[in-house]
Amino acid sequence: MEKKRVVSGMRPSGKLHLGHLVGALQNWKKLQGSHQCFFFVADWHALTSEYADTAQVKEFVQEIAIDWLSTGIDPDLATLFIQSQVPEHAELHLLLSMITPLPWLERNPTYKEQLQEVTTRDLSTYGFLGYPVLQAADILIYKAHYVPVGVDQMPHIELTREIARRFNSLYGETLVVPEGMLTQFPKVPGVDGRKMSKSYQNFILLSNSPEEIRAKVKPMVTDPARARRNDPGNPERCPVFDLHKIFTPSGEHGEIIQGCRTAGIGCLDCKEVLLGYLLGAVEEIYARRQKLAKDPGRIEEILREGSRKAQREAALTLSQIKEAIRI
Ligand code: TRP
Ligand code: SF4
Repeated sequence: MEKKRVVSGMRPSGKLHLGHLVGALQNWKKLQGSHQCFFFVADWHALTSEYADTAQVKEFVQEIAIDWLSTGIDPDLATLFIQSQVPEHAELHLLLSMITPLPWLERNPTYKEQLQEVTTRDLSTYGFLGYPVLQAADILIYKAHYVPVGVDQMPHIELTREIARRFNSLYGETLVVPEGMLTQFPKVPGVDGRKMSKSYQNFILLSNSPEEIRAKVKPMVTDPARARRNDPGNPERCPVFDLHKIFTPSGEHGEIIQGCRTAGIGCLDCKEVLLGYLLGAVEEIYARRQKLAKDPGRIEEILREGSRKAQREAALTLSQIKEAIRI
């Protein structure tokens, strides 16, 4: 039986961190073995908000690709490519824009939120309003069955489904109506206890060396109740323990909880245990990165080859679409 198709993308907005690893990449890694996967860097989507400052887009595309490959996303299993190298996405975006009612876009919660919140850039553009139409094109052009995304992206997947249904009802059954695949994962806290995020500068990057990771974990905030070594603490109020929940085997959690609550262990001991497992988890990533760094041509080759493969599939769907529209 044919494997089901999976499509997902990331905007190139900088180096990836542990939040991306746990939230997306580990899931992608699993999916690449069981599904036909298309993973791409959404550089056109970056333009929807960064059109006035494009200096770093290319660099970020490369960095994301290196992060993916270091994590073990395997170009022999998954098709890895760059959105702007498959112009079929843009052609489908145009065609879908003809059938997408404006109110569907204007009531999109992400759109309304961003318009309000973002003050440093002017987002009152045609392209920004059409962000989800481009995303729908990214997905529908591969006839994807599943789209693994975070919960913030679900409104875009819902819109994609509505656009696909509208297309099918206007022109006949052509497109696959995809399903969002919500990745259930624990929130990764940053080293200051807030959500790990680029905007807080509290992240541990996938590209950080073991020494850099150690230097970020050591001064991490802990339960403020443990001001002194002898003060008992509460792991549920400590971001270090949140990281234990993700990286330390669950069999060891009881001992840590007990040690914290009775002041049997100190926070530094506790962090050492975490570092052991955390560094273990990123060791392989780091090793792969060192190898990749010696062969920069290889990354370009992977993306070029992946884009060519993606384009073949995209062109196939696009010709069916044009036939359905009779154009
Ligand atoms: N909008 C997505 C995000 O910001 C990125 C994206 C673009 C995407 N096209 C996609 C995700 C298609 C899944 C499928 O995270
Ligand atoms: Fe946090 Fe561990 Fe210190 Fe408890 S012992 S407060 S869980 S770092």
